[in-house]
Amino acid sequence: MTELQQAPITLALSKGRIFEETLPLLQDAGIEVSEDPETSRKLILSTNQPDIRIIIVRASDVPTYVEYGAADLGIAGKDVLVEHAGGAHPGALYQPIDLQIARCRLCVATREGFDYEAAVQQGARLRIATKYVRAARDHFAAKGVYVDLIKLYGSMELAPLIGLADAIVDLVSTGNTLRANGLVAVEDIMPISSRLIVNRASLKLRRKKIQPMLDVFQRASQETIA
Ligand code: ATP
Ligand code: PRP
Repeated sequence: MTELQQAPITLALSKGRIFEETLPLLQDAGIEVSEDPETSRKLILSTNQPDIRIIIVRASDVPTYVEYGAADLGIAGKDVLVEHAGGAHPGALYQPIDLQIARCRLCVATREGFDYEAAVQQGARLRIATKYVRAARDHFAAKGVYVDLIKLYGSMELAPLIGLADAIVDLVSTGNTLRANGLVAVEDIMPISSRLIVNRASLKLRRKKIQPMLDVFQRASQETIA
């Protein structure tokens, strides 16, 4: 057996909601993770199955680990995948399953009282603050709206409140964060959920080990939809 065939299957997850929402899917398949990443400082977690391990990475780094084959599989939000599109190795990522977890919407939001429709119709050049620069650029380009994009890494809701931007592009789930900051969603860009991503070369070379994992996630996603 080659070294690669002997190595455990590596699944890249981010801590927080993706880890928490993936755990029950793994448990349904009899896969128990050894430690809780919220309390452990470990970044490589073993499971009760010697040939499956979990690595804990930043949400936006998951596609990178899978693209380079450092992880065989990963779970990432569509928002992250849209921003990552192309990557360093185009075509290295296979996206077979929408797991329907970590669901939310990517939206345009403004201060209450800001007339977004009028601004768009008047052809105003809008300043948009966002972490999702590629998705925002594509959205406004498709609408034919000129925008200046300002890249932020978090707390986007602050930007319209203190005059950094006219609007933000951010994820909305319950709407609590927008409401708490006197903002309203004025346009939906796309629904978001998390996808299983697979390194194409791993899939080809390690199909025997990876296929059962794909089957587990496929069944789990069908149960979520049902
Ligand atoms: P990073 O650490 O790389 O900056 P992050 O802070 O966005 O990423 P999380 O907050 O854990 O990471 O979000 C992980 C994924 O969960 C996001 O990419 C998105 O797909 C989804 N998500 C984000 N916010 C929500 C929400 N409020 N409700 C449901 N799903 C969400
Ligand atoms: C996300 C997103 C919004 C919030 C929306 O942030 O960036 O701020 O969720 O959710 P809501 O509509 O249910 O309020 P998150 O909680 O992930 O915090 P973050 O800033 O660490 O990404």
